[in-house]
Amino acid sequence: MGKRVLVVGSGGREHAIVDALSRSPQVDKIYCAPGNAGIALQAQTVAIKDTDVEALKAFATQQGIDLTVVGPEAALAAGVVDAFRAEGLKIFGHTKSSTRIESSKEFAKQLMVKYNIPTATYEAFDNYDEAKAYVERTDVPTVLKYDGLAAGKGVVVAMTAEEADEALKDMLLDESFGRGRVVIEQYLEGPEFSLMCFVCGDKLYPMPVAQDHKRAYDGDKGPNTGGMGAYTCLPFITDEDMEYAMEQIMRPTAAAMVAEGCPLTGVLYGGLMKTKEGIKVIEFNARFGDPETEVVLPLISSDIYDIFEAVAEGRDAQEPTWESCATLGIVLASKGYPGSYEKGYAITGLEAVDGVVYHMGTSAKEGQIVTAGGRVMIVVCKADTLAAAHAKANAEVEKIKCDNLFHRTDIGHKAFK
Ligand code: AMP
Ligand code: GLY
Repeated sequence: MGKRVLVVGSGGREHAIVDALSRSPQVDKIYCAPGNAGIALQAQTVAIKDTDVEALKAFATQQGIDLTVVGPEAALAAGVVDAFRAEGLKIFGHTKSSTRIESSKEFAKQLMVKYNIPTATYEAFDNYDEAKAYVERTDVPTVLKYDGLAAGKGVVVAMTAEEADEALKDMLLDESFGRGRVVIEQYLEGPEFSLMCFVCGDKLYPMPVAQDHKRAYDGDKGPNTGGMGAYTCLPFITDEDMEYAMEQIMRPTAAAMVAEGCPLTGVLYGGLMKTKEGIKVIEFNARFGDPETEVVLPLISSDIYDIFEAVAEGRDAQEPTWESCATLGIVLASKGYPGSYEKGYAITGLEAVDGVVYHMGTSAKEGQIVTAGGRVMIVVCKADTLAAAHAKANAEVEKIKCDNLFHRTDIGHKAFK
């Protein structure tokens, strides 16, 4: 009998997961909770929130789901994996305790120091005066990270002492942040890249590396966003770099999590930087990256169900295989994003696109696809070279018509310097 799979989440990342699963010969039926208008074309969407653990569990039981795959960190942090396992339901993703590698900056930092995993030096504070005194003793730029899941908004790279002080006040004195702790880090420089691995305990299966573009506008200008585009085939990451990142960072981290009693059973995402002193960790995430997943998963040439199932069952997997060509993805976002923006604008021209279009924030209204989020969709093109993928994605994205979208035209620019 064909497998029945439930994907949890509603963004471009989950659309890419659904798309990869739909290519699996073993998979018969895909559900996605809650999904979006694009996902609904490839899977049956179910109106359950990604953090509603009880409702997800009830759905998986009633529908005889063989495997659940979790996208968002909020669902992992809500304990969806722990709850499913307690019922004997098979699920791909980390437990609440293992998700701390992402949800607590201080936990991640302490782990890296204890196990000699290369990262920026740091100190953690919960007292404003002590933090301020520390910042005054250190050089700028300096990096301040709010300790807690902050949806990417909790990091400030302060170029001046005044900026650092403003950020410390926000993070430690302002009620809206919840008065947590702050990790203050040494500022590092160099190209950043994302290395994601499927992980089951101390066994790791790397995916091709990708690079995200966090700033809203061309030339890396404007505010930080959830990611405006990504690409694979990074020319500045050599085979030696990959080997170093796997042997000195990813494997020791997975082994450290086993030793700490919280083994990883999902995706470990290394946000890494190639500095003059070697590759160092900027952050870990306990899940697939977004938008990296949208450019990486189109390259998998083996059956993705196999690796998801093996990790969920805690056993060895066959090494997944990957196409060697390049992919490049351009995000279409609502005008105003990451600030306030309007929703409900009709989108046309999608069928003309020669590439894949993953929906990030859309809904269906009177038979039309309309904008329903800050990041709305991502156009991903594949080609033999990165330059060709760049040219193609930039041409294809123009075919999508909507009155309220903007996109970057320079995704991949760091590769072309
Ligand atoms: P994070 O949420 O930890 O990935 O941080 C967001 C962004 O802040 C990263 O992608 C980096 O561009 C920047 N950043 C974080 N930590 C550092 C650091 N120690 N040195 C320089 N830049 C950093
Ligand atoms: N692309 C960065 C992230 O997924 O957090």
